Amino acid sequence: MCGIIGVCASPGRRLNTGEMVFKGLLRLEYRGYDSAGVASIESGVIKVLKGKGRIADLEKKLGFSRVGGSVVIGHTRWATHGAPSDENAHPHTDCTGSIAIVHNGIIENYRELREALAKKGHVFKSETDTEVVAHLIEEYLKTGLAPYEAFKKAISSIRGSYAILAVFSSQPDTIFFAKKDSPLVIGLGEGFNMVASDIPALLEYTRRVITVRDMWVGYITGDSVFIEELGKGPVEPSSYVRVVEWDLESASKGGYQHFMIKEIHEQPRALAETFYGALSDLSLGEAAKILLDARRIYITAAGTSYHASLHFALSMGRISKILVTPFIASEYESYAPTAREGDVLIAVSQSGETMDTLKAVRAFKERGARVIAVSNVVDSAIPRESDLPLYTRAGPEIGVAATKTFTTQTLLLSLLALEYGLLRGELLKSEYEELRKELSKSSELASKTISWSEGVARKIAEFLRFKNSIYYLSRGIGLPTAMEGALKIKEIAYIHAEAYPAGESKHGPIALVEKDFPVVFVVPRDEYYEKLILGNIQEMKARGAFIIGVAPEDSKLLDLFDICIKTPASNWLTTPITHTPPLQLVAYYTSVYKGFDPDKPRNLAKTVTVE
Ligand code: F6R
Repeated sequence: MCGIIGVCASPGRRLNTGEMVFKGLLRLEYRGYDSAGVASIESGVIKVLKGKGRIADLEKKLGFSRVGGSVVIGHTRWATHGAPSDENAHPHTDCTGSIAIVHNGIIENYRELREALAKKGHVFKSETDTEVVAHLIEEYLKTGLAPYEAFKKAISSIRGSYAILAVFSSQPDTIFFAKKDSPLVIGLGEGFNMVASDIPALLEYTRRVITVRDMWVGYITGDSVFIEELGKGPVEPSSYVRVVEWDLESASKGGYQHFMIKEIHEQPRALAETFYGALSDLSLGEAAKILLDARRIYITAAGTSYHASLHFALSMGRISKILVTPFIASEYESYAPTAREGDVLIAVSQSGETMDTLKAVRAFKERGARVIAVSNVVDSAIPRESDLPLYTRAGPEIGVAATKTFTTQTLLLSLLALEYGLLRGELLKSEYEELRKELSKSSELASKTISWSEGVARKIAEFLRFKNSIYYLSRGIGLPTAMEGALKIKEIAYIHAEAYPAGESKHGPIALVEKDFPVVFVVPRDEYYEKLILGNIQEMKARGAFIIGVAPEDSKLLDLFDICIKTPASNWLTTPITHTPPLQLVAYYTSVYKGFDPDKPRNLAKTVTVE
């Protein structure tokens, strides 16, 4: 998704604003982009440098970091309206070149606005929805309004989602901002202020931030911040300042080749943070109480977070014998009408900004349901709009493919399932303690499974790099992990992968299996499922499939696999923690061996803020 950044320096402070924005753009790269650009105001004139391509190449060609002035804004674009091109890259300007805009989001009514403005003589240089904002402001300036008033009037005229920054050549020390549905954070510095789509873009310079809320508009200069809620009046910025705990080290590669492999290896630490964080926080108990009072429980998310949600639904069924309805967030229209007062929705989102999940939250709230959020980003939109936020504390995840945020989500949700089971009286204290003891070992289990699987994952990747298709099969509690394994290899190694319950093979998919067709079996530590999976392995073997196992060290099936990653013996509830890291490693090495960049998969964005 697009990323935006802006820096304002105080008049007396000689800061390299161009370099600050350039570095910020590099930190926004992980969100996914196809083009980038910056705008500065030098000697009262707006200068725009932009183009299609990688930031590093554009820097060589155009020199983003060499622009100067007290005010610089920048943008990474992930195309929605108009193909990736130099013209469609942001910043966009008005007809006179005295207003420059960067934007993340979608302006839904841009066609009508564009037509009306074109009739008034405005000439558009791009196919984007964003450009209309620059012309709209220009139009309001013509009526005699001051820049901020014209900016606010333009914001009131647009519909859709946006985080927008605007600069005016007539006010070369100020950046104007507005936000609705797309993330935006202000960073407060000594003699400068910044504003960006997310925290990693600011971290090198400051950790004091204000998370901008929906419908806030305002402006920053080098030494002031003004905020108001559109149509309501001023907001006191100091009441919203917080200090982020992440440091730059945790948001940089720290010696690893890619963020993804760094983040895979960070899982033991992240899981410890999740576990001890949950212990020291009363929210988990509160969440369990909310669930206990619930008439019905739903859980929703997208992508990887959906797989964590499925794990929760299966765990709740097994521990407390109750039905939790999981659904994919973008399908909320089919589920929201069934909700009413007394129901609870759990919304799981690492970024806390996924538009599909946010829409589901809003739809359920409208029907009177209560919402519990599970997120990794404090103060992001979904936790903010929920009744109770729970945080995974995995630290910043920069690789586009989710890794540590998945295992930490499953840990936090498993802890919640246990609290609920105990409160509901479905678990005896001794059963609760036994299961919880195993979860307390998550960090150790992840550490073991990662070190045991590094070598064999590379061997498997050597084999898979030449394949076009793979099945990932499992049963019961192993299924969300199989689904996650398939998603990872699809996303970063571009191999078609399908995950489904192993019992389904005979109902169709087995037709594709021929000699050396790769089939990955995720075998949970569970005697009942192990027996069933044994039959499924035989079916596949009989058709010449190449069988890859991810199975507990003491599994009875180990001899049946052509190649196997052994996982530390634990219990059924920790399956995602013991079995997912090996599959993440398989996907990572397959991607690297195929010559791809696993951190920046094509067509994908880290935070999906469009529906
Ligand atoms: C997969 C991946 C995506 C996200 C999905 C939801 O590796 O990263 O599938 O899981 O876009 O994102 P969040 O969890 O931020 O709502």
